[in-house]
Amino acid sequence: MHRRTVALALAVLAGGAGALALPATAQAAPGPGAADAASAAVTASAGPTLFAHRGASAYAPENTLAAVDRADAMGIDWVENDVQRTKDGELVIVHDDSLARTTNVEQLFPDRAPWKIKDFTAAEINTLDAGSWFGPAYAGARVPTLKQYLNRLDDNKQKLLMEVKNPEMYPGIEKDVLGVLAQEGWLDGDHVRRKLVVQSFSADSVRTVHTLRADLTTGFLGTPAVADLPKYAAYTDRINPQHGTIDAAYVQAVHRLKGAHGRRLQVNTWTVDDAVNAKKVRGFGVDGIITNKPDVVRDALRRK
Ligand code: G3P
Ligand code: CA
Repeated sequence: MHRRTVALALAVLAGGAGALALPATAQAAPGPGAADAASAAVTASAGPTLFAHRGASAYAPENTLAAVDRADAMGIDWVENDVQRTKDGELVIVHDDSLARTTNVEQLFPDRAPWKIKDFTAAEINTLDAGSWFGPAYAGARVPTLKQYLNRLDDNKQKLLMEVKNPEMYPGIEKDVLGVLAQEGWLDGDHVRRKLVVQSFSADSVRTVHTLRADLTTGFLGTPAVADLPKYAAYTDRINPQHGTIDAAYVQAVHRLKGAHGRRLQVNTWTVDDAVNAKKVRGFGVDGIITNKPDVVRDALRRK
């Protein structure tokens, strides 16, 4: 486990707060070319970087530590997750805004429909089984807190594409997320340079993260019109569209721009789970593929 002292966490977060008044270009990053190095890790590879979507979620219950470990067992070092906030302010890893689909919350709390995360405490959520819905082998899997999740990634030496999910439901969640990242040592130079990207479907949320910590690599989830791309490039490094919405011309249009840290704006596309689409988006020139089946995509891209 990678424990950090509260004092160190506060000091690191204070560094982030200091970034508030500075534009990205004037920001003192924790190392040379912090976000750029994270980008370079993608472009230097032989093909698109693979991201295990909600962990290796075709093979283990999504957004659990088991799904993280499954990706690790496959040799996949980047995982994607979804962060939301409980009633008492804990950050937890769940995709839907309700707990109903991926836990036994309806059985344990039958009178609490519609079982929104924001209406449950962390202690209540920690009683839920987040694995049995997927299969009996995963009975007893828990909804991880962000802290638990980051610790597991550190143990596995994995990297995180973190989605701030439904931020409109959780005012101030970006600051909360950065606070936990700082506490767990994820805002040090190494993590910021090579191991962390923060993304959201909410442009406001991405912009807020960029404002609070200008050295972080960020991504916008969606397919903005080409004419609008320069606006996004002011505060993000990646445009991450659904794969059916793009073609080679779109990827080229993104690549013609520089992102928030002065490097080529990148494209990470989702959710590609089959060989045909994996080869298709690679042909478009995407930088990354977000997939529930990283083994299938990897095998497809290894073949000619
Ligand atoms: O990372 C891309 C993808 O996660 C976006 O869609 O609904 O799975 O969060 P969703
Ligand atoms: Ca997601």
